[in-house]
Amino acid sequence: MKLNIAVLSGDGIGPEVTTQAIKVLKAIAFIFDHTFTFKEGLVGAIAIDKLGNPLPESTLKLCKASDAVLFGAIGAPKYDNDPSAKIRPEQGLLKLRKELELYTNIRPVKAYESLLDLSPLKKERIENTDICIYRELTGGIYFGKKEVSNNGNTASDLCEYSRFEIERITHLAFIAAKTRNKKVTLVDKANVLESSRLWRKVVTEIANEYPEVTLEFLFVDNAAMQLILNPKQFDVILTENMFGDIISDEASVIGGSIGLLASASIGNKHALFEPIHGSFPQATNKGIANPIASILSAAMLLEHFGLFKEAQLIKEAVEKSLVLNITTPDLNTDYKLITTNTVGDFIEDYINNPDETNVNFLNIHVGQSTII
Ligand code: IPM
Ligand code: MG
Repeated sequence: MKLNIAVLSGDGIGPEVTTQAIKVLKAIAFIFDHTFTFKEGLVGAIAIDKLGNPLPESTLKLCKASDAVLFGAIGAPKYDNDPSAKIRPEQGLLKLRKELELYTNIRPVKAYESLLDLSPLKKERIENTDICIYRELTGGIYFGKKEVSNNGNTASDLCEYSRFEIERITHLAFIAAKTRNKKVTLVDKANVLESSRLWRKVVTEIANEYPEVTLEFLFVDNAAMQLILNPKQFDVILTENMFGDIISDEASVIGGSIGLLASASIGNKHALFEPIHGSFPQATNKGIANPIASILSAAMLLEHFGLFKEAQLIKEAVEKSLVLNITTPDLNTDYKLITTNTVGDFIEDYINNPDETNVNFLNIHVGQSTII
């Protein structure tokens, strides 16, 4: 298969983790005889610094002309600490999501057996957790009308949803549930918000078309608690933009590190793949950033194009790295630093030669992963 991939590595640790994902995709292309072409575009704070725009026209054009976008991370402290900044890195990502109509954000969360002890949550609570969050990505309070009064003392953000916006993601969530544990939980705040009541109404109607899938409802405050108390009860979680943003960060605790969580943002014409973590500026260029979320995002990219064997091999390589503790410091308390690059090298090596008897794991621990 030929795929043109736009690479928007962005800010902070974005470039270093994306480099690992590209390395892994190149290994996959080689082994399975695909042609993947990578073209880079500027986005975020770095694009503001260089071109004064968090999503330059050239980047948008590149993304629209590509089969998929591989995204790194976005954000920089100088903007986070300045509420009056008019141009902000995040605007680049939000505009990109809107322009490419990426209305469904899919965030899988699972508890890896080898990492159960790392989660601050009790092992018996999280073991076998396997959740897929379907977060609406181009509507709601993120994109509603924003206003600040003349004196600057009152501000508002409108949370608006149309039936159409709810319907299209709901179908995708139910279709996914059919192939999983056949349950959709709609997370909303229907006891307070009119927009949530519309979600309930539309989702209930659509559920009739999927009789094999059970639909449950949960208020978002309760959902936040249930995710920690009993995450195993969930299969597919369907929710609006901001609730999805918040509960997906919360859910990442189950996996042991936010550095493991990948995501796919899908529309009818375009698709973008990105880790759910941010730009983690404090870690930039220290070799401590976990590349797995980015690598698993690349696996989701392959799945999107039906390359399931290829994606499976990446997931297998990732699991192997976790089992062998070839992991960055967020998951590894060994005194010896295993760097971002070393984790990427290991996963690349595994793809090139999954027969573990031929991989010299001992050398990996000293940073020289080699096939012998
Ligand atoms: C995410 C991020 C973004 C969001 C930010 C960077 C705008 O937190 O993808 O979850 O809020 O959607
Ligand atoms: Mg977020």
